[in-house]
Amino acid sequence: MRVLSGIQPTGRFHWGNYFGAIRQYIAFQNEHEAYYFIANLHALTTVREPEILRGYTLDAAIDLLALGLDPNRATLFVQSDVPEVSQLCWLLMTGTNLGLLERCHAFKEKKAKGLNADAGLFTYPVLMAADILAFDSNWVPVGEDQVQHIEVCRDLARSFNHHYKCEAFVLPEARITIDAAKVPGIDGLKMSKSYDNTLALFEDQKQQRKRIMRITTDSRPMEDAKEPEEDHLFQLFRLVARPDQVEAMATLYRRGGFGYGEVKKSLADAAENYFAEARARRAEYEAKPKEVYDILADGAARARKKAAEVLRRVEAASGISYRK
Ligand code: ADP
Ligand code: TRP
Repeated sequence: MRVLSGIQPTGRFHWGNYFGAIRQYIAFQNEHEAYYFIANLHALTTVREPEILRGYTLDAAIDLLALGLDPNRATLFVQSDVPEVSQLCWLLMTGTNLGLLERCHAFKEKKAKGLNADAGLFTYPVLMAADILAFDSNWVPVGEDQVQHIEVCRDLARSFNHHYKCEAFVLPEARITIDAAKVPGIDGLKMSKSYDNTLALFEDQKQQRKRIMRITTDSRPMEDAKEPEEDHLFQLFRLVARPDQVEAMATLYRRGGFGYGEVKKSLADAAENYFAEARARRAEYEAKPKEVYDILADGAARARKKAAEVLRRVEAASGISYRK
C-alpha cells in the first residue's frame, strides 16, 4: 500500500500530535511505501511571519526524524518543494463545487465565529486533495478531525474520473487511528496549542518539569481511592511509563493514600526517559541542518517523480497537454 500523511508546521509539536498522530504515521514506514510531508503551503493560512514559518518547517523536519521517521524507508519532503501538487490543485479546483467547500468544518467554524476567512482557508480541502491524489495514495492515516477532508478528496477524484471518463485518480481511504490516544492537556481538556495546555515534545527538561507540576488535579483527600482511568494525570503517565510502572501506579490509585505531587514527579521522570533517545537524536540533527536539508531535497526529488507521473496522466485526461 502507498501511505501518505501531512502535518502542518504551525507550532512546535506536542504530546497530542505525537501520541495521537505522528507515532502511528511513522509505524507505517515499516510495512508500506510511505510518504510524509510538512504542509507549509497549508500553514500559510495561519502563519504569516516568514521567519516563524521557516523555523517551524525546519523544526518539524528535525522533530520527525528525531522521533524515528527513517528517510531511507519513507519519503520525507516539504510540500512546497513539489510544485506538481499546486498544479494539480488548480486542475481539481476547476471541478470543485462551492457548496462542497462551504460544508467543510474549518471554514464553517471560522465563519461561525464571525472571523474573516480567506480563499486559502476556503479552498484548503482542494489542496489537501491534491496532496493525496498526486501520489496515488491508497491510505491516509489521519485523526478523526480530517475524515471530512478525505471524503472531499474522494468526491473530487471520483467526479474527475467520471467527467473525463478515465481512471486518472486512485481513490484513497482514510485510516483512522482508532487506538490513538486522545491526549489530555495539563488542564484535563484535549491537548491543543489553541488552548495553551500542551506539553511540548522537545521542551527544555526543567521547563517540562515545571509544566508537569502545573497539571490540574482534583481536591479529594489523599487517602481516597481513585479510578486511574478517569484521571488525566494518569492518562499522561500511561503514555510514557513502562507497563510495569503503569500497573503499579494503577494499583496505587485504586488503593488511595498517595499525593498527586508524587505522581507528577513519576510522570516527569518517565517522560524524560521515554523521550531521551529522540532528544539525543534531535540534538544531532539540530547541529547538522545541512544534513536535514539534504534529506528533504532527496525526499522532494523522489516525491516529484511520482507526482509528475500522476500530473501527466491528469493533463492528458483533461486536454491540458494539447499536442496531439
Ligand atoms: P492542535 O490542536 O494543537 O492545533 P493540530 O490540529 O495541528 O493540533 O494536530 C495535528 C495532528 O495531531 C492531528 O492529526 C490531530 O488529530 C493530532 N492531535 C492533536 N492534538 C491531539 C490530542 N490532544 N490527542 C490526540 N491527537 C491529537
Ligand atoms: N490538514 C491536515 C491537518 O491539519 C494536514 C494535511 C494537509 C494532510 N494535507 C494532507 C494530512 C494530506 C493528510 C493528507 O492535520
